[in-house]
Amino acid sequence: MCGIVGYIGTKQAQSILVSGLEKLEYRGYDSAGIATIDQNKIDCVRAKGKLQNLRTKLETSSNSSPIGIGHTRWATHGKPEEYNAHPHTDTARRIAVVQNGIIENYRELRDNLKTKGHEFRSDTDTEVIPHLLAECFKQGAVTLLDAVQKAVHQLEGAFAIAVLSADHPDELIVARQQAPLVLGIGDGEFFCASDTPALVQYTQVVVQLENEEIARLTTGGYQVYNFKGEPVKKTPRTLNWNPIAVEKQGFKHFMAKEIYEQPAVVRTCLEAYLDPDWTVDSNQSPIKLDLPESIYENLEHIQIVACGTSLHAGMVGRYLLEHLAQIPTFVQYASEFRYAPPPVMANTLTIGITQSGETADTLAALEIEIFRRKNQPSAKQARVMAVTNRTDSAIARLVGTVIDTHAGMEIGVAATKTFMGQLMAFYFLSLEIAYRRKTITNQRMQDLIDGLKKLPSQIEIILESQEKYIEELSHSFLDTQDVIFLGRGINFPIALEGALKLKEISYIHAEGYPSGEMKHGPIALLDAKVPVVAVAVPGTVYEKAISNAQEAKARDSHLYGVVSAEDKDAAEIFDKVLPIPHVDELLSPVLTVIPMQLMSYHIAAMRGLDVDQPRNLAKSVTVE
Ligand code: M6R
Repeated sequence: MCGIVGYIGTKQAQSILVSGLEKLEYRGYDSAGIATIDQNKIDCVRAKGKLQNLRTKLETSSNSSPIGIGHTRWATHGKPEEYNAHPHTDTARRIAVVQNGIIENYRELRDNLKTKGHEFRSDTDTEVIPHLLAECFKQGAVTLLDAVQKAVHQLEGAFAIAVLSADHPDELIVARQQAPLVLGIGDGEFFCASDTPALVQYTQVVVQLENEEIARLTTGGYQVYNFKGEPVKKTPRTLNWNPIAVEKQGFKHFMAKEIYEQPAVVRTCLEAYLDPDWTVDSNQSPIKLDLPESIYENLEHIQIVACGTSLHAGMVGRYLLEHLAQIPTFVQYASEFRYAPPPVMANTLTIGITQSGETADTLAALEIEIFRRKNQPSAKQARVMAVTNRTDSAIARLVGTVIDTHAGMEIGVAATKTFMGQLMAFYFLSLEIAYRRKTITNQRMQDLIDGLKKLPSQIEIILESQEKYIEELSHSFLDTQDVIFLGRGINFPIALEGALKLKEISYIHAEGYPSGEMKHGPIALLDAKVPVVAVAVPGTVYEKAISNAQEAKARDSHLYGVVSAEDKDAAEIFDKVLPIPHVDELLSPVLTVIPMQLMSYHIAAMRGLDVDQPRNLAKSVTVE
């Protein structure tokens, strides 16, 4: 959460910083600000709200400074007001700092700094840093690097910072402790950013900073040090990013574009993870996940930790792993696992799912798992892996073993195509484990593979045939305040996902329930004002799901059914049907989620809401 950028070179920093922030706005959009050095002074411009407000303020600026830092904020400490916007400065306004993360001991530091005469102007935790740096100079630090090195030892928490000083106008200092930070290496110009999309239009050569590293950037080069002050040799790597991929490409919103990219995500995963030459007579696995053998050895249990949409993918994954591979699987909110992990079980694989690869709760849950296994002599070393869309992320570096979801950069805060990639990861993982455990016949494997291969065109059919209809239908949700989503078995997580999508972008209260659970209480909520969206596709729970839907209809709820296009009775049962092509029940979540995504998108768009950047949210949740 929060995005930081920095630039030092020969061009005008202001426009580079603002365009970098634009690419990081997904990390937070409560306020934005930049600081540059102009006429030997820090020039700090900040604005409450979206980046556009900062742009408006900068329109009349003639500042051509070639050095600066910038920030886009997701408020943690202090309201989203201009006075809390970054950059923050010291009392004399000679030092400016932007930060992503949380300084946990800021109260203690602030109280101490106040007694030494430092004047605070915001409610943020970050503001302690420029004052602390000023204090370090007072205490004898000579260089900016020296001051930052002294200061970081006093900061507790997870943070990434960029520091600018009017008294050291030819350098930028950045530091990282558990929050992401990457350097961009140009020709006589250097950048820093919380994430690579901010850099790719300027340079594809990057250096990833690790925990407890500080870098000094000048126009002549960069040098990285550890927190002890020892130089660290870093090897730059070249990205292969297409800056166009982070544009809307004619769609009104990123979310719409990303919904439409899902067939391509499935195709890419099929190409990456399926052996094209496999036949039913083959005597080896058709799956090419390339995971270490140690992942599979004597495997008895799987535990999955994740948050939000990733958790829902994990719940589908659990169903697949138990059903196909007969392996007991537990799914837990990462934020709960952190403080109440289940007892250590032997021969257990732990999987963290996170599209961003930097969700603090998921990262911490995996760290705890690794730590407690190392410290339990009886338990084997942690067997930990991640399913992520960012193979260069903190989580990927922590666990080493990943399944890449191949979804490409997702900008909309509401996860859609990354969810699709996560589902794909679990189809391939569960098929691979099932193959190894001999819990699946080659014929069933072949049938499922055939089914998987049909999915991209089946998603396209739904998008083509349903989009207009769902857009029209969204108008009936103009005054709706509550919606219930129902699903059973493998489609229960899809009911949860439908509800999450709707509430996060349309601000309509929505709940997902297992269809059969309604009668145990939630049914009391139903009346003509509460529509119900039910998944009822052919398979083990079809009849039951239909009965549960009818129970809702009997309470006057307007009933929407996500049903098979071949279901001739659906129109009699449901007030409105959202048909999907016929599909094996195990593969159905890939299709049933599409009408849910389209519904939430169109309802939010129809209400005129900010679909890609819903209020109070951010794409990467890097705080606890
Ligand atoms: O990056 P992650 O997959 O770890 O993110 C987890 C959740 O924060 C995320 O899925 C969130 O719920 C999305 N806004 C859902 O659309």
